[in-house]
Amino acid sequence: MKNIENYIKQIPKAELHIHIEGSFEPELLFEIAARNGISIKFKSVDDLRNAYKFQNLQEFLDIYYQGAQVLIKEQDFYDLTMAYLKRAHADNVVHTEIFFDPQTHTDRGIPFETVINGISKAMDDAQQKFGISSYLLMSFLRHLSEDEAFKTLEMSLPWRNKILGIGLDSSEVGNPPKKFENIFKECGKLGFKLMAHAGEEGSAEYISDSLDLLKIERIDHGNRCLDDTNLVDRIVKEQLALTVCPLSNLKLKVVNDLQQHPLKSMLNLGIKATVNSDDPAYFGGYINDNYIAVQQALNLSKDEIYLLAINSISASFLNSERKAYLISEIEMFDRKFGI
Ligand code: ADE
Ligand code: ZN
Repeated sequence: MKNIENYIKQIPKAELHIHIEGSFEPELLFEIAARNGISIKFKSVDDLRNAYKFQNLQEFLDIYYQGAQVLIKEQDFYDLTMAYLKRAHADNVVHTEIFFDPQTHTDRGIPFETVINGISKAMDDAQQKFGISSYLLMSFLRHLSEDEAFKTLEMSLPWRNKILGIGLDSSEVGNPPKKFENIFKECGKLGFKLMAHAGEEGSAEYISDSLDLLKIERIDHGNRCLDDTNLVDRIVKEQLALTVCPLSNLKLKVVNDLQQHPLKSMLNLGIKATVNSDDPAYFGGYINDNYIAVQQALNLSKDEIYLLAINSISASFLNSERKAYLISEIEMFDRKFGI
């Protein structure tokens, strides 16, 4: 059947905002916990999934950091990453840019090397097996100090060539961009791409400060930009992309229901918005589920879905040749699909 849902499922797309620890499905979590001899406080997979009910970002983060504690060996990080890449490929994701939170692991005594080797081997194998390209982005946890971020940066440098960019995540309110001004400056000097979560729970000022103080070139979430017309004008003029995560926003009560989601307004204003899954195992859906849910809630047209897919490629950190190739694939798909 040629309907918009099939169009969404089949259109080639990129995912630009996914935390690998947030793709940890309860089934795999139980399996890895068992083989590592770690007991978890939930009796069953269903029990654990039932606990995925959150009033805000912090309630989610508390459970998300707990889940990650069972990841010990390189194979664990490999299996986690491979499971995500396989699932993303099934959603016709042709390119993905994956965040990882090294501090969640190194603070428990897991060597940086173990984490990055497991993740990057899966990325290489998935490229071979599925043809999916991927980049790795290292996120600093903003509830920790800037000093700790510097230590993590230092630790990562032997693997500099495996990490394309730097992000900033975890508890936003009370941990403003200014806290990380020095580390972002250093990362900029080292040639990393820079981005930060901003305006998810924090105000529009967190977004403008991330642009001014951290010199980011892509905004993760960015919902609250609509509160500040000067900021919107800037985002449009500078063609800054937003990595928007509709089901995450719903589950973390950033929006009360998807009909009030700002995605359509963003597109109408000329903002380069993209759709992403954030932490799919916790928020009830991978990238296509996000596209479908928001299409239905906001009655997005086929042309708006097409634009979101194009935006996902143009907002990626791919080189211009691969961007042009993937955009031509999207155009060809659109012509062939014919709705
Ligand atoms: N870490 C994982 N998901 C996150 C989110 N949505 N916001 C902040 N930190 C996160
Ligand atoms: Zn996120």
